[in-house]
Amino acid sequence: MALSELATPNANQIKTWNEKSGPTWVKYREQLDAQIRELGLAALDRLSPKPGDRSLDIGCGCGDTVLQLAAAVGDTGHVTGIDISRPMLEVAQHRAEQQGFTNITFKELDAQEAPLPNAGYDALYSRFGVMFFDDPEKAFRNLHASLRPGGRLAFVCWRTIQENPWMLEPFKAAQSVLPPIPASDPLAPGPYALANPDRLERLLHQADFRHTTIERYDTWVGGQSLDDATQLSLKVGPLGTVLRENPHYLDSVTDVVRLALQPYNTDSGVQMRAGVWLVTASQG
Ligand SMILES: C[S@@+](CC[C@H](N)C(=O)[O-])C[C@H]1O[C@@H](n2cnc3c(N)ncnc32)[C@H](O)[C@@H]1O
Repeated sequence: MALSELATPNANQIKTWNEKSGPTWVKYREQLDAQIRELGLAALDRLSPKPGDRSLDIGCGCGDTVLQLAAAVGDTGHVTGIDISRPMLEVAQHRAEQQGFTNITFKELDAQEAPLPNAGYDALYSRFGVMFFDDPEKAFRNLHASLRPGGRLAFVCWRTIQENPWMLEPFKAAQSVLPPIPASDPLAPGPYALANPDRLERLLHQADFRHTTIERYDTWVGGQSLDDATQLSLKVGPLGTVLRENPHYLDSVTDVVRLALQPYNTDSGVQMRAGVWLVTASQG
């Protein structure tokens, strides 16, 4: 039975990632991978995967980082990619087969609720796949139990939207033509749910992770043409969500977002600042 047919605490996210955000990520996969690749690689560097590692990629999406992990752990190692989004997993599976990897398994599983192999992994990793849990403490506990003694965790997650002008600027510009958008709960499942480093550290500690490090990492993201960057801004993040629910605003929002991105258009495409946490912890 597909996850989307089950009544579970993450049912809303499962619906979204199967019916709305997931298909968008599939459609814009190459641009999104290019946009966030450096950030994922920075977290992979902190994980420092070793040949032979049994590793888990949490919320692996369309599989970009599973392929990187699989190359790093080699033929003696293994990567399991888990995700709640069937359309994204299908793309990931296809990419792994096309590239001839034999050390990868994909599973349609909710990282918070699914029984994972007890102490089954040497390393847990995620690129922006751990911020969507209805009950993050429960999810991190479940993940902790899947890590062998001495095992390690590394992931990258967004800081606040204010520290991410590449998402804030299009959103702010759009607000000038959209009806008032009700303020959202900053702790609700979503891209910024782990933006508060104190909460993040507390959650990991409560889930029995130890030796947590939370490293601030800032960079430029982008590189697309002004038109492509505009289109991408309209499809992902909080603005993408608002526009999917109010598609009749698309034309007017497109114009103001394009104008807002124009000052950031350089010889190497639209370049904007992004701010993330690189997080590491160990099993004990
Ligand atoms: C922002 S996307 C990142 C995808 C991928 N890691 C990447 O970097 O391309 C977030 C991913 O987390 C997945 N996800 C959300 N909640 C999840 C959960 N409870 N268990 C497993 N995956 C989840 C989504 O389906 C989606 O693929």
